[in-house]
Amino acid sequence: MSRWPYVFFAAACFYIMIGVCWGMYMGITHDTATAPGHAHLNLLGFVSLSIMGGFYALLGKETPNWLIATNFGFMNLGVCLLAPALFLLLSQRVAEAQVVPVFMIGEFSILFGFLAFGAAVIGGLRRAGKARSGLQAFAAA
Ligand code: HEM
Repeated sequence: MSRWPYVFFAAACFYIMIGVCWGMYMGITHDTATAPGHAHLNLLGFVSLSIMGGFYALLGKETPNWLIATNFGFMNLGVCLLAPALFLLLSQRVAEAQVVPVFMIGEFSILFGFLAFGAAVIGGLRRAGKARSGLQAFAAA
């Protein structure tokens, strides 16, 4: 099996460690101002990357390497930009104007990451359709 699913799950584990510590920090300090940042780190970093890793392990085994790498690269760039930017903004450590460019790059990275994932899913769907029609032709012959 390709190593990609492990790479996705390893990154997901890394992000959830930070996400859980972030949640504990909010609970201990009773300061939940940064909760949306915590939620985005967990949902984009842990949940989304885990779903993608699961897809590549089970269904997307024949996805071209470059497409999986694009998916992984954009998602990680986005998470690594958005989570700290949300923390800094929501904890009022920086002004909004200072983090707007970071948000722009981060958001588009996430968008491109999901686009690459969508392309992998569509590619798998098409391959599955071709394999099925090939089997039907074989059965009819
Ligand atoms: C030990 C683990 C965790 C701790 C201690 C924790 C702690 C917290 C705290 C204190 C809040 C703020 C609640 C409030 O506003 O009153 C919060 C919000 C939230 N957490 Fe967690 N959390 C943990 C794990 C997770 C995980 C694994 C996810 C998702 C995969 C998650 C998703 C969310 C979401 C969606 C919110 C709501 C954010 C919002 O209101 O904007 N959390 N969490």
